[in-house]
Amino acid sequence: MQEVTRTDSFNKKLVRIAATGATEAGADVTVVDLRDFHMPLYDGDLEQKEGLPPNARKLKDIMLTHQGFLISSPEYNSSVSAVLKNTIDWTSRQSEGETSLACFKGRVAGIMSASPGGLGGLRGLVHVRSILGT
Ligand SMILES: Cc1cc2nc3c(=O)[nH]c(=O)nc-3n(C[C@H](O)[C@H](O)[C@H](O)COP(=O)(O)O)c2cc1C
Repeated sequence: MQEVTRTDSFNKKLVRIAATGATEAGADVTVVDLRDFHMPLYDGDLEQKEGLPPNARKLKDIMLTHQGFLISSPEYNSSVSAVLKNTIDWTSRQSEGETSLACFKGRVAGIMSASPGGLGGLRGLVHVRSILGT
């Protein structure tokens, strides 16, 4: 899964390299660009009225069919980017007939970051890890 808010994103390049490696190692990989899964900011009223936004549902269905994730996400202001957090917020919501955190539970996550900054996105990954750990 790549979180791309920039066409020439370093994280996009990084996750494609990782996806190629995983494929060569025998994994079935689906590369996800969050730009293709645009969704509104989490809104409890919208959720109550309409359920998950169509792209959140679509992404959740993809995640449900996979055993793990490789996430490459930039660090924004020393933390997780809003795009990634919003995506996790929507896909973490329980839908009818699903268990809690259905598309996250029992899955392995690899997390990566690329940044021209001195710490290479490390501080953001601490927060991504904390979120996924829960
Ligand atoms: C809103 C914003 C906040 C940023 N904050 C940080 C930061 O805290 N640490 C860092 O290393 N880079 C930061 N950057 C720089 C990004 O790491 C850099 O733009 C990087 O190339 C973004 O990833 P991408 O190449 O995948 O788009 C920030 C960039 C933006 C737009």
